[in-house]
Amino acid sequence: MKVDVLLGLQWGDEGKGKVVDVLTPRYDVVARFQGGPNAGHTLEFEGQKYVLRSIPSGIFQGNKVNIIGNGVVLDPALFKAEAEALEASGHPLKERLHISKKAHLILPTHRILDAAYEAAKGDAKVGTTGKGIGPTYTDKVSRNGVRVGDILHNFEEVYGKAKACHEQILKSLNYEYDITELEKQWLEGIEYLKQFHLVDSEHEINNLLKEGKSVLCEGAQGTMLDVDFGSYPFVTSSNTICAGACTGLGIGPNKIGNVYGIMKAYCTRVGAGPFPTELFDETGKKIRDLGHEYGAVTGRERRCGWIDLVALKYSIMVNGVTQLIMMKSDVLDDFETIKACVAYKVNGEEIDYFPYNISEGLEPVYAELPGWKTDMTKMTSEDEFPEEFNAYITFLEEQLETPIKIVSVGPDRDQTIERYTEE
Ligand code: GDP
Ligand code: IMO
Ligand code: MG
Repeated sequence: MKVDVLLGLQWGDEGKGKVVDVLTPRYDVVARFQGGPNAGHTLEFEGQKYVLRSIPSGIFQGNKVNIIGNGVVLDPALFKAEAEALEASGHPLKERLHISKKAHLILPTHRILDAAYEAAKGDAKVGTTGKGIGPTYTDKVSRNGVRVGDILHNFEEVYGKAKACHEQILKSLNYEYDITELEKQWLEGIEYLKQFHLVDSEHEINNLLKEGKSVLCEGAQGTMLDVDFGSYPFVTSSNTICAGACTGLGIGPNKIGNVYGIMKAYCTRVGAGPFPTELFDETGKKIRDLGHEYGAVTGRERRCGWIDLVALKYSIMVNGVTQLIMMKSDVLDDFETIKACVAYKVNGEEIDYFPYNISEGLEPVYAELPGWKTDMTKMTSEDEFPEEFNAYITFLEEQLETPIKIVSVGPDRDQTIERYTEE
């Protein structure tokens, strides 16, 4: 059996959680492979809304195995709060959720370091989610990290060492902090974590594949936030791209089947950093209002703009995307004209590729298409699509040279339209 990977192609919040939930019935296993509680994946069904941060979005659909892979960074305190809320709302997870012993733990001092580094950067700050993501991955790579598996063995020693090292750094930064409450909750989280299946997930996943089981890998963040290929340094600290599924789960690249690339019908970004098609006018505000573009976790206002096909082509290339899924089409239901960036102008010259530097002197070149001015939120089949909407998606497919297989017309699980396939 093959492994399919679902990931964001823009700057995150494309709607990954919703689509993973929709696709889960077709798989036996759902696995997160990178990121941590910086993610906020929203799912809506039966009149309820859930926001998942570390737990895979396959958790609601029957008795599937859900795996938190080695590439994820886990905060036990936030994990406990998330898991307990799910259990309280009638969704048991202890049996279904397996956590890699090789996943790294976000320590209380990692969160404090995140804040301290941001403060030290001043105006150049990244605008992180403040969850300690960067410092945790830094420790992983510099071989100073604490892993989930450590809680079963000489935990106090490993934790004590890492904490002392962080305290030194914080002292050198003259950063004032109080760790007492954070650490108390965190240690409670460590005890709570011990009740779960802590596994060697690379063995488990490969054994399941051998048994003929199918796996859906759920990405977090988006390709433009990838630490290698995103808008560095305004990125997250993991590989959000398809290759991250291999390293974050222990799966060989030859096992990867479909790569679902998720994009909004427009574009958003939260936090600092370049965003070529950002709109600062009434149109941007209209998209934000209609799309409820506020962070799922932080409530931060998301920056909004038109779809950027230059950046999307790049994302499709580095991920090997086989099919596209277009989200939030309904948000553009009431626009006279829709714009799509097809090239950038740099020093008066037009380029159609994603350049090294997108932070300065880059002007988007737009194609304009007529809007469809139709409420699409109750549509259930592509036969109902307005002519102008069909023209929009055909245009995108031609530009991106990749088929759009699913169109989402609202936040609910049911507001999802699968298009006819020509395979
Ligand atoms: P993720 O991080 O990629 O899972 O996305 P988020 O959950 O952070 O943000 C997507 C937001 O859009 C959530 O509030 C979803 O409920 C909502 N959403 C998802 N698909 C659609 C859609 O097709 N239309 C509308 N209007 N909202 C959607
Ligand atoms: P999901 O999975 C949108 C952004 C932050 C910041 C940068 C670095 O819900 O799509 P970090 O805390 O990771 O060090 O922050 O990355 N960011 C996200 N933006 N969606 C996310 O996740 C994000 N996770 C991180 O805003 O700009
Ligand atoms: Mg999100």
